[in-house]
Amino acid sequence: MNQTPTTRIAPSLLSADFARLGEEVRNVVEAGADWIHFDVMDNHYVPNLTMGPMVCKALRPHTTAQIDVHLMVEPVDAIIPQFAQAGANIITFHPEASRHPDRSLTLIRELGCKAGLVFNPATSLHWMDYVMDKLDVVLLMSVNPGFGGQSFIPGTLAKLRQARQKILAWQSQGGQAIALEVDGGVKLDNIAAIRAAGADTFVAGSAIFGHKDYKKIISSMRAEILKGETISV
Ligand code: DX5
Ligand code: ZN
Repeated sequence: MNQTPTTRIAPSLLSADFARLGEEVRNVVEAGADWIHFDVMDNHYVPNLTMGPMVCKALRPHTTAQIDVHLMVEPVDAIIPQFAQAGANIITFHPEASRHPDRSLTLIRELGCKAGLVFNPATSLHWMDYVMDKLDVVLLMSVNPGFGGQSFIPGTLAKLRQARQKILAWQSQGGQAIALEVDGGVKLDNIAAIRAAGADTFVAGSAIFGHKDYKKIISSMRAEILKGETISV
């Protein structure tokens, strides 16, 4: 495939044991995780309530891995500095949840974090077009946000190909690297096709934390990702 060879696995803490989060983070990084995906839900933008900046701050000393904060909150700007101070490395948000997505992206970067937009299954990729220079990550939701353990929506594969084309076009004009992340229903049996469609960063919650051997499942996922390099979907 004509794209950056770097791939990453980002376990979502949503399916971890919340009573042992620090240990879960250490174990999953030890098992080979690249990023820690940290789902923030506010019972407003999505019908669920999870973790805030205090939990991010508490986990920060447990790992040097990148903490990838996925904001499912509305509004977004007030909480961004709190996560930056809490040690987040990457902060992504849903553009329709911000009055001013360009301003929110700029704010994240000014605070020293990598910035990204998140696209729900029905949200158009056109939100990318005028902020390409401000994106470090594009995250495509392959389920409707709010809960772990849902099924992958197959139409995400075509959308991934479109997003990859936009990123390739941008980079061919000298643009910066932009990670293409996918989140929701990523499993061992679909990760190769997801890779083949253009994703380079794979969030997986229930598939990893629901497995008794984190090292085994992460290694198996990596092997499937490699297979995805050679197939077309
Ligand atoms: C859903 C979250 C996802 C979720 C993924 O709103 O953003 O990160 O935890 O969980 P699985 O991999 O179980 O679909
Ligand atoms: Zn997420």
